Amino acid sequence: MRLLFFAGSTREGSYNKKLARLAHHIAEANGIEGVFVDLKDYPMPLYNADLEAADGPPREAREFKALLGEYQGVFIASPEYNASVTPLLKNTIDWVTRVRAKGETGLEVFQSRVFGIGGASPGYYGGMRSLLTLRQILSVGTGALVIPQQIAIPRAANAFEEDGSLKDEAQQKLATGTIEALAIAARKFAAS
Ligand SMILES: Cc1cc2nc3c(=O)[nH]c(=O)nc-3n(C[C@H](O)[C@H](O)[C@H](O)COP(=O)(O)O)c2cc1C
Repeated sequence: MRLLFFAGSTREGSYNKKLARLAHHIAEANGIEGVFVDLKDYPMPLYNADLEAADGPPREAREFKALLGEYQGVFIASPEYNASVTPLLKNTIDWVTRVRAKGETGLEVFQSRVFGIGGASPGYYGGMRSLLTLRQILSVGTGALVIPQQIAIPRAANAFEEDGSLKDEAQQKLATGTIEALAIAARKFAAS
């Protein structure tokens, strides 16, 4: 069982990349194999049905979908833009759902693994509204299994230690519990 970690931001100093990296670190510290990837390595144009009709999904969407398929559990750290997910994250998910072989819905890769979510924001709510939206996109939109536990890090500018851990002990525990729960669920789901 292996976990994939990524964030819905490509910003150099992204708090959500920090959170995804921390989640990866927590997994490794608990003997759970995983990898962190940066969406900047999978640049995709803004979805447009004319583009799709002309050329099909971009190579990066195919590659990212193939990558998702290699991991039994996926953790997404989701920034909050205007009470929702970033266009980057939504666009990535949208393109991936359009990569499909004949007879496929395109949602198979979401429905055959387990997702965990978290968010970090400089505001007071820790990206909570982004998490609600992402939960809806994944659960309702793609039919994915999303574990109930989640991580929300408010005041993110001041939340992380130099070593990437969380200054607040309770938050660090919450993050650890969420990643452990994701690993347990992904293991069970993969075995079922
Ligand atoms: C267009 C835009 C809208 C934003 N809206 C929100 C918001 O609704 N709630 C919030 O907590 N932060 C909001 N922010 C601030 C982001 O949380 C902040 O830029 C954060 O650093 C983005 O995540 P990142 O650090 O992972 O790139 C917004 C930022 C932008 C650029």
